[in-house]
Amino acid sequence: MNSISNRKIKDKESIPTQAIYWSEAISLGNEEVDNQHKKLFELTNELIKHADADAHSEIINETLYELLQYVDTHFSDEEALMESINYPKLEEHKKLHRSFTKQIAMFCRDVVQGKATIAEELLAYLSHWLQHHTSQADQDYKNYL
Ligand SMILES: [Fe+2]
Repeated sequence: MNSISNRKIKDKESIPTQAIYWSEAISLGNEEVDNQHKKLFELTNELIKHADADAHSEIINETLYELLQYVDTHFSDEEALMESINYPKLEEHKKLHRSFTKQIAMFCRDVVQGKATIAEELLAYLSHWLQHHTSQADQDYKNYL
């Protein structure tokens, strides 16, 4: 994946400034995972709410830090759950998680270095990835729970 500095969003209208919502339609029927997904959506919405804030503001830094920590916790819990049910696509799924973590880390580095504002590509990537991942890839292991 390219870093934020050489990737451009062609259609500015596609930048998400709207909150994203968890719904029963993407429930996995596992309360712990569902709650973790809800929390990830909430933290993303917190960033969206402050999209116009200075990227170095305390609220952005704190929320980004909390989100990164929570993503780590969630991915390891989810992967442990998949392991416990012998989910056959565990390795494939882990790669999706690693790729997301790597991309988000690059975005955060760029934001910290002042190459981007929080409102732009990080939010676009974050909200699109979360919605897509929880409604597609995660749904696949629901059948094994
Ligand atoms: Fe996942």
